Amino acid sequence: MSPAVSYRLATADDALCIGALGTQVWLDTYATEGIRPALANVVLEHFSPHAVSVTLSQADVSVVVAERAGHLVGFAQIRLGVDHPHTNAEASAELERLYVQERFTGQGIGGALLTQSEDLACERGARVLWLTAWVRNTRALAFYPRQGYEDTGSTFYCFNNEHFENRLFSKRLAD
Ligand SMILES: CC(C)(COP(=O)(O)OP(=O)(O)OC[C@H]1O[C@@H](n2cnc3c(N)ncnc32)[C@H](O)[C@@H]1OP(=O)(O)O)[C@@H](O)C(=O)NCCC(=O)NCCS
Repeated sequence: MSPAVSYRLATADDALCIGALGTQVWLDTYATEGIRPALANVVLEHFSPHAVSVTLSQADVSVVVAERAGHLVGFAQIRLGVDHPHTNAEASAELERLYVQERFTGQGIGGALLTQSEDLACERGARVLWLTAWVRNTRALAFYPRQGYEDTGSTFYCFNNEHFENRLFSKRLAD
């Protein structure tokens, strides 16, 4: 029988492994044509142990980690108080990251991390959880609607004079 997956809130000690897993999943997802300097810069900037430690220390951020047999296999990161760009929603939170290591996808871990993120956001006062997904990330584009998220339009992520179209998804959380 394969080991069970457990979930908990991240602590400062998780920064190193979150950074490593984040690097792996981010490159698998976004560096679809290989690595170029702009991508290398972004990934090293966002997932260095220092950068992740800073993120984990922020009061408006919560991170849930998924572990199996003592190893990190996925994580979800939400940030409270970030308005949804397309609505003047009441209190909103953004799902900034939902990353599952490739070999553990399709086993319900992403869905469980998302549900826990919604519960956390709701407990902390958010009434809407929203996120953006790259238009070429077909798996994510299919995943969120099946988790009850509504596609509310497009938005662009810009860095180094490059523009990446994303779809915006949002879900009302239970009152
Ligand atoms: C998108 C992502 C988070 C989904 O995570 P996941 O762990 O694969 O999600 P789940 O396993 O909960 O759901 C995926 C599918 O597996 C199915 N599934 C869930 N549990 C299952 C199980 N025990 N056995 C078989 N299939 C299962 C689900 O029904 C779901 O099917 P659907 O997409 O047709 O609805 C993951 O693919 C990922 O990390 N991708 C790379 C990073 C990324 O793109 N993140 C999102 C950025 S916006």
